[in-house]
Amino acid sequence: MPATVVIGAQWGDEGKGRVADWLAAQSDVVARYAGGDNAGHTVYVGDQVFKLHLIPSGILRDQAVCLLGNGTVINPVNMVKEMEGLRAAGVDVSPGRLLISTRAHIIAPAHIALDAAGEKARGADKIGTTLRGIGPAYTDKTNRSGLRAGQMADPEAFADALYKHTGAANERLVRDGNDPLDPQKSAEEYIDAAYKLKPYLADTSAYLNARLREGAVILCEGAQGTMLDIDHGDYPFVTSSSPTVGGALTGLGIGARWVDRVVGVAKAFSTRVGSGPFPTEVEGELAARLRGTGENFWDEFGTTTGRPRRCGWLDMLILKYARDVNGFTELVLTKLDVLSGLPEITIGVGYEIDGTILDGIPVTTADQMRVKPVYETLPGWDEPLGSARTWNDLPKAACAYIDRIAELLEIPVNTVSVGPERDQLVQR
Ligand code: IMP
Repeated sequence: MPATVVIGAQWGDEGKGRVADWLAAQSDVVARYAGGDNAGHTVYVGDQVFKLHLIPSGILRDQAVCLLGNGTVINPVNMVKEMEGLRAAGVDVSPGRLLISTRAHIIAPAHIALDAAGEKARGADKIGTTLRGIGPAYTDKTNRSGLRAGQMADPEAFADALYKHTGAANERLVRDGNDPLDPQKSAEEYIDAAYKLKPYLADTSAYLNARLREGAVILCEGAQGTMLDIDHGDYPFVTSSSPTVGGALTGLGIGARWVDRVVGVAKAFSTRVGSGPFPTEVEGELAARLRGTGENFWDEFGTTTGRPRRCGWLDMLILKYARDVNGFTELVLTKLDVLSGLPEITIGVGYEIDGTILDGIPVTTADQMRVKPVYETLPGWDEPLGSARTWNDLPKAACAYIDRIAELLEIPVNTVSVGPERDQLVQR
């Protein structure tokens, strides 16, 4: 099993971190391929809770080498902070254990300011970004004016480049009525991080290919989700990278021949943070019930931003679309335990628009905003699921729900999570 890709099947926050943590136990290398510290992966190990934003969840499995591929965008200051937090918790984040692609792009202070300025300018039509500078960093990448992680090999020259980058961005910020940044401060903020990250720089594509040739098992850890993909998501309410399967190949520099397992991850219901279409969204008491109160770490509040997530029923058209775009070989269903106690479980199985029933998602985001879901209901179950450890421990109605999803998707659903702990993962 050379390379497995883990991909979110919805709008992010599906619980990919815990699934990656599970698969990382059998992997030699865990590689993040897209996005930056907009992601939030929460992993529970005993009584420790790790909130990872940029560093792969695999870092919590001692045998795995972890890396950030060329498709990622890196805020060096936040990366150093995350490393320090892990080090304080006893996790090995030494060079050699953790690698950073020289080709990854840098999130500069100006990118963060431009992200906020862009959202302000959009007003009511804002995307609801995480304000981490993701969009502007990828814009600079495709505009061929970005800074790359490899430049940190010469921290002084890197600081000069940042100084110039901030100066150039200031022209735009001021033109659009925003305060300029202090270029000197930007450079000073980053130079220290550059010195700290320099030993981690590597040609990660060459590293991965060498490891694949010698038979290593690689886990490609996705962030965000299919519906946030710059190409395949509901544009423009998307992130600026490719969380889908193609992004894993481009973002790591490995060939398609190595990938033989594509694991989709979906929550047993749906959530979304930020703006954009959400046909099966529910409101009021039911939304509050699915979201939780926020007292628990695993309630539906953003790991990165703390924003309450929008909640709704499972949408099979979204999952079928994600299956096709990514070629899922299987689906892992997370947070099944949250549905315990609901008298009925609802699944979105189709859309209706202008009197026509659709069996796939419409091409335009405007139409996706207008569709009305067609629902199917299944009986609920009362039993709490947290202590289930084998498939036989799951109530019949919960199994029927899982089986219906597998039937509609036509791929196996053989793994479900019933709580946040490592051992709360049940396999058929
Ligand atoms: P950005 O990636 O910060 O530019 O945000 C663009 C959109 O993607 C917004 O709707 C964010 O809420 C969403 N987003 C980005 N990263 C995540 C994530 O890790 N989980 C869920 N939503 C995300």
